[in-house]
Amino acid sequence: MPTVLKLGGSVVTRKDGVEQVAVARLERAAGIIGRFHGRDGDAAGAADVDAADLVVVHGGGSFGHPNAERRGVTTSEGTHDAAAVRDIHDPMRELNRLVVGALSEAGVPAVQVAPLSAGHRVDGEFRQPVDAVAALLAEGFIPVLHGDVVATAGGGVTVVSGDELVTTLATGLDADRVGLCSDVPGVLDAGGAVVDRIERFEDVADALGGSEATDVTGGMAAKVRTLLELGAPASVFDLDGLSAFLDGGSPGTWIDST
Ligand code: IPE
Repeated sequence: MPTVLKLGGSVVTRKDGVEQVAVARLERAAGIIGRFHGRDGDAAGAADVDAADLVVVHGGGSFGHPNAERRGVTTSEGTHDAAAVRDIHDPMRELNRLVVGALSEAGVPAVQVAPLSAGHRVDGEFRQPVDAVAALLAEGFIPVLHGDVVATAGGGVTVVSGDELVTTLATGLDADRVGLCSDVPGVLDAGGAVVDRIERFEDVADALGGSEATDVTGGMAAKVRTLLELGAPASVFDLDGLSAFLDGGSPGTWIDST
């Protein structure tokens, strides 16, 4: 069963800049994924981890949130202005091209998949058929999707977050492992320590503050809520935990309501 991995916008971009890639972090992440993908099955850390069965999603960071905010577009507030749609979508495509390029340099057979072309939102819920992603996986490719904008019934076009994509892909592909790699080593408690395990949102509700940089999709609280609804275990970790996660471990915070 596939692994769905999200590289947060805080990993692949510099959130303090405007449309700036975090080159060193992106190359580090790509290198880790490349080394993982290059292993044969016997060498992988856990017997049931298939290195070829990986879907990557990345967030928007400074390529996504500031543009969406400037246009007043969120996951619930849409626009009918085609120029606004392009203003948000085009930089995300460019970021996706750069992420796929870094993965490709690291030997990963990565290919671009755009949610705007395949997904839509109905009654607040993001939907995307996963057949094409599954077919790419079956043919040995690593699909790389990104936070984007999508057609929204009765609402023009809204933002779809990478976390929503993770949920849709994990459910549709029946993934058994979900990882969110961000700039923090896990979900932090009020004292700044990593929470090992979350089974109910109430356990951490008080500790979860807002994201410091502009975040039209809700920050860590939204991520935790989304992951608790997954029906599959998820891990939240930083780049230092990425290798361990891909090897089948559970670095950072383990989120599981099942
Ligand atoms: C945001 O995606 C996409 C847009 C704003 C267009 P995410 O919400 O997944 O991005 P990060 O990971 O928080 O930066």
